[in-house]
Amino acid sequence: MFRPANFRQAAKALGQPTRKALTTSFFRPLSSTAPLYRKEDDKSKKDPLLTATTNAPKGTLEAEGQYARTDENVKIEYPDDEHMPRSPVVQGRGGMHFKRTLADFSLENKVTLVTGGARGLGLAMAQAIVASGSDLAIVDLNKQEAEEQAKKLVEQFQKENPGLEADQIPSVTAHYSDVSDPESVDTAISEVILKHGKIDHLVTSAGFAENFDAVSYPYDRIKKLWGVNVDGTYLFAIGVAKHLLERKAPGSMVMIGSMSGSITNVPQPQFPYNASKAAVRHLAASLAVEWAGHDIRVNCISPGYMLTALTRKILEENRELRDKWISLIPVGKMGAPEDLMGAVTFLLSDASRYITGADLRVDGGYTLT
Ligand SMILES: NC(=O)c1ccc[n+]([C@@H]2O[C@H](COP(=O)([O-])OP(=O)(O)OC[C@H]3O[C@@H](n4cnc5c(N)ncnc54)[C@H](O)[C@@H]3O)[C@@H](O)[C@H]2O)c1
Repeated sequence: MFRPANFRQAAKALGQPTRKALTTSFFRPLSSTAPLYRKEDDKSKKDPLLTATTNAPKGTLEAEGQYARTDENVKIEYPDDEHMPRSPVVQGRGGMHFKRTLADFSLENKVTLVTGGARGLGLAMAQAIVASGSDLAIVDLNKQEAEEQAKKLVEQFQKENPGLEADQIPSVTAHYSDVSDPESVDTAISEVILKHGKIDHLVTSAGFAENFDAVSYPYDRIKKLWGVNVDGTYLFAIGVAKHLLERKAPGSMVMIGSMSGSITNVPQPQFPYNASKAAVRHLAASLAVEWAGHDIRVNCISPGYMLTALTRKILEENRELRDKWISLIPVGKMGAPEDLMGAVTFLLSDASRYITGADLRVDGGYTLT
């Protein structure tokens, strides 16, 4: 705050003129502030670098700024559910520990619910959770795939941990839910509690993206996207929090946002997705504060471009888009779903006990430039 007395003292100490003298010699009346330069010698108008950026024609292509703009012509074809590629179970990441690490990273004796766990990033994070000793409930729109993956996760765990007794093998179950439907969410949560006896941790990975330019984006599609990405995250968070509050138990939640919650991706236009992920990030921060006094932590992971079975298929059909994306990532490559395994384990576990409301960007440095 400006304090005239302090200013006078400082001026005195520096041997500067007093306030009266300063007023006349240093201060100009506001109305007579001189322009930085006169119009006639405005060199900026003649500077080719400055004029280039201001002369860029409206529209998108072949113009200055083109690499930092969305292009309404870029359309990514997402396959329908029937043709969605399956995600493989990660090999060689879990297993018996021969290298020492902190016991705090363990998720033993916990029950974790992962939405969208049948595929992609949700599946890789689910696998990390099982490898870290937690029981798991996969909740997904696609129950059949969730059931198949649940079996594979247990098989992989047994392969990596031979010789364990049956009661040492994590219990992995599959459940149906449309995360955007409150009734369906409540039913799934009750079902999981019935099967596992409790829920300690939550990961919300169910979500999707699609591309339309803002003007032609069908409004019903916007509502659907926000319903899944935002409401779906909120509904599961509230449902699990109610259960934790009733049990007076601690818990940890990880919401899957995206770097798109902080930046605008190019060239594909996707404004409602970007907005939905900004909402997820702030949902995590807001709920973290609300529940901090109840020992319930809420954090967000914001992945960058990750090479899931789905993005691999899309980019194999669109090399130009792939090259453009990779050219914008400082580490020079897309992330693998496995790159989220450590991040989610850390944020769910006691190793991060003093971290809440954080946004952990796993994006190869994308958002730094
Ligand atoms: N893949 C990436 O590059 C990337 C980058 C940043 C963020 N993300 C985010 O990560 C999350 C997972 O993405 P992904 O790439 O693994 O996608 P994915 O399509 O491979 O998997 C999403 C899973 O969510 C399920 N799902 C979709 N809608 C659902 C609904 N209404 N109810 C219940 N389940 C539903 C799907 O059946 C599927 O199993 C999403 O929230 C996505 O926005 C992905």
